[in-house]
Amino acid sequence: MTGTIITIAQQKGGSGKTTLTAHMAAAALLSKAGASVALLDIDPQGSLGEWFEARENRLGEEAAGFSFRTASGWGARREARAMARDHDFVFADTPPKSDREAQPAIEAANLVLIPMQPSPVDLWATQLSLDLAEKEGVPALVILNRVPPRAKLTGEILEALKDHTPSVAKTMLGNRTAYAAAMGKGSSVLEEAGNKLAAEEVQALFKEIQAALKR
Ligand SMILES: Nc1ncnc2c1ncn2[C@@H]1O[C@H](COP(=O)(O)OP(=O)(O)OP(=O)(O)O)[C@@H](O)[C@H]1O
Ligand SMILES: [Mg+2]
Repeated sequence: MTGTIITIAQQKGGSGKTTLTAHMAAAALLSKAGASVALLDIDPQGSLGEWFEARENRLGEEAAGFSFRTASGWGARREARAMARDHDFVFADTPPKSDREAQPAIEAANLVLIPMQPSPVDLWATQLSLDLAEKEGVPALVILNRVPPRAKLTGEILEALKDHTPSVAKTMLGNRTAYAAAMGKGSSVLEEAGNKLAAEEVQALFKEIQAALKR
C-alpha cells in the first residue's frame, strides 16, 4: 500500500502548523477503525514530538495510536516515503523560516497544508509556501487559523487571498483556547469534552482535505 503524505508548511512562525498537524492526524486516526497514522517531525524545536510524548505518557504507547519519527534535510523525504509504505496517512510538521528544511517534505507530499492567521503579514509569508509547493508540483490548501469571531479583517484577507491562490479551505479554525489546552495534554479537541465548536470545525476541515485529495 502507499499511504497519503500530508505536509504542513508555512514560513511564518506561530501560524499553527503544529496544532494543525496534531489535529488533522487525530481526525485521521478517528476517521475509521484501524486507520494507521504516522507523524513526522522535521522541526528541530520538536513541538510535535513533545505533543506525542505527552500523549504517550498519558495513554501508553499502544493507545497513543501514532507512529512517530523525526528527520531533517533530505532525510525527511526518504522517511516520509518509507512511512507511507505502511501507514494510511503520514503527517509531516515542518519548521518556520526555512524553505530548505521544508522542501524535501513538500516534494514527497500528496498535499501541502498552509495554515495562516488572517493578517496581512501572514499573507506575505503564505505566498512563499505556495511558491514552494507549486515548484514541486504539489497541490496546496491554505487554511485560515485563529480566526476571531466577526472580524472585518478576515473577509478582507479572504478577498486578498484570491489574488494568491484559488485553494483556500472553506472551513476555518477559530481562535479558541481549547486548541492550546488540548495540545498541552498531548490530546486534540476531538478527544476532550466540551469543545463542540472546535471539534466540528476540525471534522469539517478533515473532510475537506479528504475531498481535496480525491481531486
Ligand atoms: N486555532 C487556535 N486557537 C487558539 N490558539 C491557537 C490556535 N492555533 C494555534 N494556537 C496557538 O498558537 C501558538 C502557535 O501555534 P503552533 O505551535 O501550532 O504554531 P507553529 O506554526 O507550529 O509554530 P512554529 O512556527 O514555532 O513551529 C500556540 O501557543 C498554539 O497553542
Ligand atoms: Mg510548530
